Amino acid sequence: MTDAPLLAAARRNNPDDAVPVWFMRQAGRSLPEYREVREGIAMLDACAMPDLVREITMQPVRRHGVDAAIFYSDIVVPIKAVGLDLEITPGIGPVIAEPIRERADLDRLPELTPDMVGYVSEAVGLIVAELGGPDSAVPLIGFAGAPFTLASYLIEGGPSKDYARTKALMLGDPDLWHGLCSRLAQISRVFLEVQVAAGAQAVQLFDSWAGSLPARDYERYVMPHSAEVLSALGATGVPRIHFGVGTGELLPLMGAAGADVVGVDWRIPLDEAARRVGPAYALQGNLDPALLGAPWEVLAERVRDVIRAGAAADGHIFNLGHGVPPKADPATLSRVVELIHTEGPELRRA
Ligand code: CP3
Repeated sequence: MTDAPLLAAARRNNPDDAVPVWFMRQAGRSLPEYREVREGIAMLDACAMPDLVREITMQPVRRHGVDAAIFYSDIVVPIKAVGLDLEITPGIGPVIAEPIRERADLDRLPELTPDMVGYVSEAVGLIVAELGGPDSAVPLIGFAGAPFTLASYLIEGGPSKDYARTKALMLGDPDLWHGLCSRLAQISRVFLEVQVAAGAQAVQLFDSWAGSLPARDYERYVMPHSAEVLSALGATGVPRIHFGVGTGELLPLMGAAGADVVGVDWRIPLDEAARRVGPAYALQGNLDPALLGAPWEVLAERVRDVIRAGAAADGHIFNLGHGVPPKADPATLSRVVELIHTEGPELRRA
């Protein structure tokens, strides 16, 4: 039995005849069929409806022919599941009614148990069945938010440009910071374990905003908590992808935190990323999502550049450097997948 192309690349065993590709945020507002089924249903309500989650997760797989599905959910779903009052406001993101600012606030963040997210197990089971079971060529990637990125939403109360409150708490009250991040690590770990137990064949830990930190603060205040999540998932045997935006200076640490695959944004080329993380990791990335709006020949040449640079790593999974922009033309994404599938293996060998 051979591994799915994406799983083989994640295990640093590039398949000869395939460059696997998927896109962060491939399910979502860029697709008219998504906007149609979400009509009148709030994001977090949709996440608790297993059959709708199955449908939305499958939409980009059907349309683009990508090499993985990503579970349709959100990083704040497990936070809501433990009882914290929050919403996802369209065009803004997660908004927390009463942010976490002091020790007593931790009481509002109990541990996550699998029964609190039964709809997640159910949805994952439906998706894996539709994909063709555990040995499908198109695996399902489960995901969770990493402790730092989750903490930033909980402390700021919503999205932030500078993470000023988060950093003030982290450096000003390290005990509370570590208490909060230990709890978030438990929640992320269980959220991922539930998805793997239900059939997800790989996981991605999103530390989207960790790139706001210098390496020394990352190493001391963040890395141990992400490492706790990733090392626990190691016991499941599924490949672990670890991604953040603007993390060029953190890549070696993000690998060492316990990843099999390090996700890279568009700011550094993949050959440079491979040099920074060293030989023990596969890489995922890293086309600039903004280029999806460029003339086709310009975009196609950049897609080829990413594949050529990705050849420096033993395993390469093609992706964007961050999520699909809501205004991206789905036809362009399909065309990018086709280009990667037809020219990819040859470009990588060249
Ligand atoms: O296709 C996929 O990638 C799977 C689904 C997915 C969503 N959120 C669905 C979603 C994933 C993997 C996430 C993770 C997530 N959520 C992250 C990490 C990934 C990243 O982008 O860095 C973060 C930081 C969040 C928090 C969050 N949730 C934001 C910033 C937003 C966007 C707000 C907006 O309206 O622009 C959300 C809402 C959200 N999550 C949407 C989707 C498709 C858009 C809102 C909607 O469709 O109603």
